[in-house]
Amino acid sequence: MGTVGTGFSMSLDGFIAGPNDGPEWPLGDGGERLFAWYFDGDTEYTMPGGGITLKVSRASAGLLRESHQKTGALVVGRRHFDLANGWGGRHPMDLPVFVVTHSVPREWVHGGSPFTFVTGGVEGAVEQAKVAAGDNDVGVGGANVAQQAIKAGLIDEIGIDLVPVLLGGGVRFFDHLGEGPIELERTRVIEAPGVTHLRFRVLKEN
Ligand SMILES: NC(=O)c1ccc[n+]([C@@H]2O[C@H](COP(=O)([O-])OP(=O)(O)OC[C@H]3O[C@@H](n4cnc5c(N)ncnc54)[C@H](OP(=O)(O)O)[C@@H]3O)[C@@H](O)[C@H]2O)c1
Repeated sequence: MGTVGTGFSMSLDGFIAGPNDGPEWPLGDGGERLFAWYFDGDTEYTMPGGGITLKVSRASAGLLRESHQKTGALVVGRRHFDLANGWGGRHPMDLPVFVVTHSVPREWVHGGSPFTFVTGGVEGAVEQAKVAAGDNDVGVGGANVAQQAIKAGLIDEIGIDLVPVLLGGGVRFFDHLGEGPIELERTRVIEAPGVTHLRFRVLKEN
């Protein structure tokens, strides 16, 4: 059985998108700075789907490869799905994607589609994704959905790709988590040009 993880590129002041995110600027005002490390490096890294080649540092490429090789399915929120316009029909990681939503967009439902729209909440989506992933890991994305998953105790690992910028506003990752504390154990720190990759294990009471 794999793990369930979530993670984002995040500004030092805790934002994963700038203000005014929308279809034209999915990462909001100034938010593209959070993704600069995907394109500023000297090492080419092609996403598993084959359609996107990034230019990252050697250290970041190693981490991306390792993470992508272990991931078997994704859960995302409907906003993330809509802002990405369904990645044109196939996620760059070429994986089954479970989209948490209140209403199923019929235009995206067709045979052979990698997208499953789940109206039963985050927990049900994670359960379906675990089955699809088999022994591999599940990745959870979309801030709101990730927050619900953390709050419900569904997340085993949290990854932060920390970018040295203060965005001053926008979409926060760590919000609406209820009463704390949620204890974490830091498992990795990888320093790379333009980004520090931090990985944490969520310590759960058994
Ligand atoms: N920095 C990074 O690494 C990174 C990566 C990816 C995305 N992002 C950013 O993340 C943001 C998107 O995240 P978000 O927090 O705005 O939204 P989200 O989590 O992607 O989606 C929220 C939506 O999901 C649906 N939903 C959530 N919980 C539900 C439930 N329990 N039952 C049914 N439906 C539910 C609702 O949509 P409906 O009511 O419409 O169905 C809700 O409005 C964007 O700004 C994007 O740019 C950043």
